Amino acid sequence: MNVVMIGAGYVGLVSGACFSEFGANVMCIDLDAERVERLAAGEMPIYEPGLENLVERNLDDGRLQFGTDLAAAVSEADLVFIAVGTPTRRGEGYADLSYVYQAARDIAPHLSGYTVVVDKSTVPVGTAAEVKRIISETNPEADFDVASNPEFLREGAAIGDFMRPDRVVLGVESERAERALRELYRPLNLIEAPILVTDLESAELTKYAANAFLATKISFINEISQLCEEVGADVHAVAKGMGLDGRIGKKFLHAGPGYGGSCFPKDTLALVRTAQEYGVSSRIVEAVVEVNAAQKARMVTKIRHALDDTVSSKRIAVLGLTFKPGTDDMRDAPALTILPQLVDRGADIIAHDPQGIDEARELLPPQVSYSDDIYATIEGADAVVLMTEWNAYRGLHFKRVRELMRGNVFVDLRNVYEPQTMRDHGFHYACVGREA
Ligand code: UDX
Repeated sequence: MNVVMIGAGYVGLVSGACFSEFGANVMCIDLDAERVERLAAGEMPIYEPGLENLVERNLDDGRLQFGTDLAAAVSEADLVFIAVGTPTRRGEGYADLSYVYQAARDIAPHLSGYTVVVDKSTVPVGTAAEVKRIISETNPEADFDVASNPEFLREGAAIGDFMRPDRVVLGVESERAERALRELYRPLNLIEAPILVTDLESAELTKYAANAFLATKISFINEISQLCEEVGADVHAVAKGMGLDGRIGKKFLHAGPGYGGSCFPKDTLALVRTAQEYGVSSRIVEAVVEVNAAQKARMVTKIRHALDDTVSSKRIAVLGLTFKPGTDDMRDAPALTILPQLVDRGADIIAHDPQGIDEARELLPPQVSYSDDIYATIEGADAVVLMTEWNAYRGLHFKRVRELMRGNVFVDLRNVYEPQTMRDHGFHYACVGREA
């Protein structure tokens, strides 16, 4: 099968590499010639565990290629995936679909023979229908169907998620398109991964509903964590007690500084906008978004409180900047909201992150300084704030940490450590939703 992936960003690159691993001939097309050149040389533009090996192997085997010649690639394709970006339009909450529609216009004149054009980007309900309209209008002769195949990949675990998915959702408008997509995903039959075939709109909405529901679980437990702090309960025990009920499930009930990343913040807002457009209420998702913003604000208060209500002139060592471990992605990371507020209040911040420092430098206030050594970061600090639960921070040598610090405040926004252990080590310890 010949597959063309339009867009060699995060989703396009991972999906293209994985489809080639499935055995398809994949051509990833990107407008950025420099990016394409580097990818063709096996150089990854993003950090994703396992991706580099996968790309190199399939490049060597000739199943995976990178290029800029969209016309030639599309004319040979059985399936064309649109995996371009859909950023939130600034301040509006709407997903910006201009890149998706431009891709549809670019593809249309070059379709040759029956082709399935598949939306892979996360796009609001109705986008596939609009892609269909654009292609038909641009090239009335084209023999094609559109389809929607949303991705459910977690950054840092994307390859595994692609290769062993909980499910694959295929929104289709014809049996012919269904056959082509089922053929592409055939290797997954071996592991009996459920393949769910739906109409276009259901597939599109499934992605938003799934992400909004996961975000709901997080905001729910974050709100409960505040109540835990007030009544003296332990959010770990509460989450465990809830999660053991199979109807609730134990995953995504980890209290923390609020969700971030490229999906949850954007997709929750986009779902609210879609509901508004159709005159339907989305009060739950709206509350989820509000609670997430409040949680980040609450973390600033928590840090100030741990430092006797003033952070001015206090040296704060921040461990972890990315929105979660295993990625260099800083998009909507809680650190981007929390640290500027501490800087505004006069804190002297030094930060460490195993992967995110380059991007963080561009996004955080210039007053923040950085170190690539954990213990050098901690040296002389009044407080350590653990912001992202990278494995590198799980085995901290507490005696050394205490000796290096000027103060003894440790604010653990990911509940990595046990309160009693931290107190035994002489820390003034604060965490989220647990007695400290
Ligand atoms: C998410 C979805 O999991 C994935 O299916 C979708 O396609 C894209 O969005 P990702 O953004 O990579 O993936 O990260 P994920 O691991 O889901 O975490 C999202 C955010 O929620 C992170 O900031 C994380 O720290 C936070 N989180 C997650 C919590 O605060 N508590 C939890 O219990 C789980």
